[in-house]
Amino acid sequence: RRLVSVRAEAQAINPEIRKSEEKVVDAVVVSELSKPLTAYCRCWRSGTFPLCDGSHVKHNKATGDNVGPLLLKKQKE
Ligand code: FES
Repeated sequence: RRLVSVRAEAQAINPEIRKSEEKVVDAVVVSELSKPLTAYCRCWRSGTFPLCDGSHVKHNKATGDNVGPLLLKKQKE
């Protein structure tokens, strides 16, 4: 029983996005955001990665997980 628990904790969260890269990193210059609010995926299931497309809702319902996007808000001038 313990072995199953340890193996589950060691599973990769990223099932398929940009797997040829050693580490997936995306940078955003916030002052250059064109929209007032942009959502970035943190569940690794978005069809528009790195942007959130709402796929985390299905993932959370299927797994009991609680992941959601990173929201970037354009600073008001
Ligand atoms: Fe991944 Fe929304 S689709 S956080």
